[in-house]
Amino acid sequence: MSTTVITNIGELVTNDPARADEGGLLGLVHDAAVVVDGSRVAWVGHAADAPDADMQVDAGGRAVVPGFVDSHSHLVFAGDRSAEFEARMTGEPYTAGGIRTTVARTRAATDEQLTSHVARLVAEMRAQGTTTFEVKSGYGLSVRDEARSLAIARQFTDETTFLGAHVVPSGTTPEDYVALVTGPMLAAAAPHARWIDVFCEDGAFDVDQARTILAAGAEAGLRGRLHANQLTYGGGVQLACELGLVAVDHCTYLSDDDVTALADSGTIATLLPGVEFSTRQPYPDARALLDAGVRVALASDCNPGSCFTSSMALCIALAVREMRMSPAEAMHAATATGAAALGRDDVGTLAPGKAADLVLLDAPSYVHLAYRPGVPLVTGVWQAGRPTVP
Ligand code: NIG
Ligand code: FE
Repeated sequence: MSTTVITNIGELVTNDPARADEGGLLGLVHDAAVVVDGSRVAWVGHAADAPDADMQVDAGGRAVVPGFVDSHSHLVFAGDRSAEFEARMTGEPYTAGGIRTTVARTRAATDEQLTSHVARLVAEMRAQGTTTFEVKSGYGLSVRDEARSLAIARQFTDETTFLGAHVVPSGTTPEDYVALVTGPMLAAAAPHARWIDVFCEDGAFDVDQARTILAAGAEAGLRGRLHANQLTYGGGVQLACELGLVAVDHCTYLSDDDVTALADSGTIATLLPGVEFSTRQPYPDARALLDAGVRVALASDCNPGSCFTSSMALCIALAVREMRMSPAEAMHAATATGAAALGRDDVGTLAPGKAADLVLLDAPSYVHLAYRPGVPLVTGVWQAGRPTVP
């Protein structure tokens, strides 16, 4: 196996807690180098001290950051809802009802069509610096269509999530559908999934149904996560904390008790600011969460309805400019805490032994991700030590 040294890095974000004394939250190192051995990081430090390697890459004084970890996406779907978006931008509210439109299109698509559409979105993510990502089902809502959605997702990532409990599809009752999700659908989905998720919201599934579905998932060996408090106040966040879930996602409408429960439980609040941007809802109060000691992750929620972006850089820019997160907090939330939200410690941090997932920015500092919104700053990506961009 050959080694590569990436040297002349003007600013390196490591997220390594061992570097916090000098490098703060992001474990920053200036005038840095990273040695990659195969798929792993072998050495991190000052360029002047770097050991020899078989190959050398000159970063030209630019910034290198860990690959983004996008812990929440819905990439398996067919069709387009730009008309719904356009109506929303002229005054219609966002509702979960649009999900059924995508379900009809997804069921009608062939495996090949779905697979090539996911591949296109994954390529889009990778080109923008995302090196680890989660993908949910949830636009099949039948035994066959949920299982095949996950089988397709599994071709692209190990972080697959069964979201049969997205909405109750037309033509069935909530009781019958929960029985299907927790019975035959779960049995067909579980071999392809690591996680189970429920959309806990008015118009989707209530807290009791979510509890039942997550318990069935746990029986089948799937770890739980939750969509909660996206459109209304409700009990979803507190359920996630009570169950000790690793993460609860959206967290747009939070009571003081919800914030306290998150701080006490250690459940990560995954914020998805692209959703508020694309639905014109109020942003979640990231500042209150962070000030209360809650761990905050950022993810894209890439989906055809509430937020059709795959850009983690956009999420960082929104978090900084609209949610009062500092650039360092947002950078950390999009990498290390995103990894924690997937129960992963092998990605999201650049330290010896970690995955060599690195992003070279055409900028002197990670701060430019927020400072220069909308500008494609990702100019190089290494995935498990392999250059994938350009
Ligand atoms: O995370 N909230 C539920 N699911 C998606 C939206 C799905 C859709 O509108 O198609 C979300 O926002
Ligand atoms: Fe979502």
